[in-house]
Amino acid sequence: MKNIYASVVITLCFNLPVHAVDLTLCESCHNSKQDVNPIISGQHSKYIEKQLYDLKKDLRVHAQMQGIAKTLDDEQIKAISKAFASKKWANVDRESSQDVKDKGKRLVRVGNCTRCHGSELEGTYNIPRLAGQNPEYLKTTLIQYKKKERSNFPPMSSMLSRYSEEDIGIMSEYIASLNYQE
Ligand code: HEC
Ligand code: HEC
Repeated sequence: MKNIYASVVITLCFNLPVHAVDLTLCESCHNSKQDVNPIISGQHSKYIEKQLYDLKKDLRVHAQMQGIAKTLDDEQIKAISKAFASKKWANVDRESSQDVKDKGKRLVRVGNCTRCHGSELEGTYNIPRLAGQNPEYLKTTLIQYKKKERSNFPPMSSMLSRYSEEDIGIMSEYIASLNYQE
């Protein structure tokens, strides 16, 4: 892990043209096999862009990713966001039990999540896709919103205040099991 991080920093520190940023280094952490990390291949471009800016400006806190974002200039952030957005969504393909499906569906309905995230939770432009995202990542980030540890979009924190951590876990498993292809 340390080596991967070091190579990203080394690659990005040289003032290389945008195309020289090696996206495979990002993908070594961001893929559907690493449950705790977010999938970004096929995520929407303006959402990716905002997260990278927020991490760079310390508005979103995650030491390792803040360090990586700080090595990117604005042009690189725009180009990387477009490049990942143009890839096919790397769906996690997870099964969930009927019980989780029933409960998860109800929890999503109660929160009216589809109002913003789309009828299939597929997201759009500056709203993140949730369907088929890594379940552990969803759970962690939703709990961080609830506790206001992730504070770069306060409306998400107020929406989650009424959910227990157990509900958030069930909802995350359910959302991860959705397999919507655009
Ligand atoms: C060493 C592993 C690692 C590497 C390498 C890495 N990331 Fe990350 N990244 C993470 C983790 C872990 C998070 C989740 C942070 C959190 O929990 O807030 C993250 C979060 C993100 C997010 C926010 C995603 C979302 O759904 O909100 C974006 C965008 C991102 N990274 C882009 C990149 C790009 C672009 C690169 C390559 C230049 C990169 N990352 C390299 C580990 C990594
Ligand atoms: C009022 C609109 C709105 C509603 C309703 C809403 N969201 Fe969001 N959500 C957003 C926006 C916008 C973002 C991106 C925040 C940012 O730009 O930093 C977001 C971010 C997220 C993220 C972070 C994704 C990532 O990759 O890190 C998750 C997870 C999420 N929402 C889940 C939910 C769930 C589950 C519900 C229902 C309980 C819900 N949202 C309801 C607008 C909404």
